[in-house]
Amino acid sequence: MNKKVYIQIYGCQMSERDGATFRAMAEGCGYVTTTEREDADLVVVTTCCVRESAENRIMGNIGHLSRWKRQKPGRILAVAGCLVQQEGALERLRRRAPHVDIWLGAFEQERFTDLLREGKPGAAVAAAPPAGPPVEPAPLAERGKLSANVNIIYGCDNHCAYCVVPLVRGPERSRPPRDVLEETRRLADSGVREVVLLGQNVNSYGKAEGWREDFAWLLREVARTPGLWRVRFTTSHPRDMTDALIAAAAEEPAVCPHFHLPLQAGSDRILRAMNRGYTAAYYLEQARAIRRALPEARISTDIIVGFPGETEEDFAATMDLTREICFSQAFTFMYSRRSGTAAAALPGQVPREVKRERLRRLMALQAEMSLAWRRSLVGSRQEVLVTGPSKSDAALLSGQTAGREITVFPGGPADVGTLAPVLIKEVNSWTMFGEITRN
Ligand code: 5AD
Ligand code: SF4
Repeated sequence: MNKKVYIQIYGCQMSERDGATFRAMAEGCGYVTTTEREDADLVVVTTCCVRESAENRIMGNIGHLSRWKRQKPGRILAVAGCLVQQEGALERLRRRAPHVDIWLGAFEQERFTDLLREGKPGAAVAAAPPAGPPVEPAPLAERGKLSANVNIIYGCDNHCAYCVVPLVRGPERSRPPRDVLEETRRLADSGVREVVLLGQNVNSYGKAEGWREDFAWLLREVARTPGLWRVRFTTSHPRDMTDALIAAAAEEPAVCPHFHLPLQAGSDRILRAMNRGYTAAYYLEQARAIRRALPEARISTDIIVGFPGETEEDFAATMDLTREICFSQAFTFMYSRRSGTAAAALPGQVPREVKRERLRRLMALQAEMSLAWRRSLVGSRQEVLVTGPSKSDAALLSGQTAGREITVFPGGPADVGTLAPVLIKEVNSWTMFGEITRN
């Protein structure tokens, strides 16, 4: 009988993609995927270190896995990704979690197969990425999946004062256009209908390499892949937004009208201290330019509250901009001090209680805005990529709009895997409800 692999993902979509790569590699070694951790012979955890809370949760979970390992001899635990890649982290992690068999940094994914085959504890953590263009270590095995994540650029050259990512994921390196296009073509041929182009800053695609092919060009090329219905992309840095990108989204039918544009803060003083390279007015102008070209465009965002030195007045500016722009969705975080970053040394660290209270107010405002956004869609017809039965009511189908709104409606098995036109009738804070209208 085949051994089973269970993949546990923490962090962003790039970490999720790492998990898919490890799954493909484990399958290449004869494992089959399971969704039950208790059945697994191999657990791979992909990790995140962007905030202390993520780190604590992951360490807690790895701790629990020591019991899982003891329950059956021969079980293998592998831990990979950003947390492992942090400077000096490996020694500290090994002391805290001696039961982990395989440690893999961010640049050593292709070593996973060897370590697995060797069948003895090991670690592969390199300080820097290998020279030359980045290569994916394994083709994805997305059988039966409608959506797949495709890396286009690794690393980050921005030095946002709060962020540990450039320290762990290294400098920006783009995948050659040919590789990206080959992968998307292959995915479309295997039945994938939606791809998400991934990078810490997709707008920097090809810049470090000095390529003529920029992100707007790549997006158009991917959007023309036969068999692909939808292309998404994340994340865009507001500073690097271009009219060419907005035009590509407006003109290519397969490109989803959705921009994930992390705002981070609404106060110019804080944006400067964060080293973001734009002002609130500039951000607002970008948002307006998007909506001028694409009135239905969703703009989603990330916001940090309690950056060092943030006053009540600064925070009020964040609230004002959040209200003004009406984000379709916002991921909101309390600032977390990360060692090695510029902001860790700044004076004026904001007390936890103050951060928590600001987060609470911002989340309450965003809940209102998300609902307002969804209400504005009532009466409209949205194309929904139908993924399967609804989790809360198996008699209904569920899927996502081009703007990632989860939408639930009646339908039959033949609708699954199609792009269904759905008339939106009702919404709540999480879900939209409607019915298929084909005419
Ligand atoms: N503290 C809190 N949030 C952070 N992010 C990045 N670094 C930190 C930090 N030190 C948030 C940013 C980023 C998202 C992925 O995580 O909002 O866009
Ligand atoms: Fe993703 Fe950043 Fe977390 Fe790494 S640290 S998993 S790049 S969010």
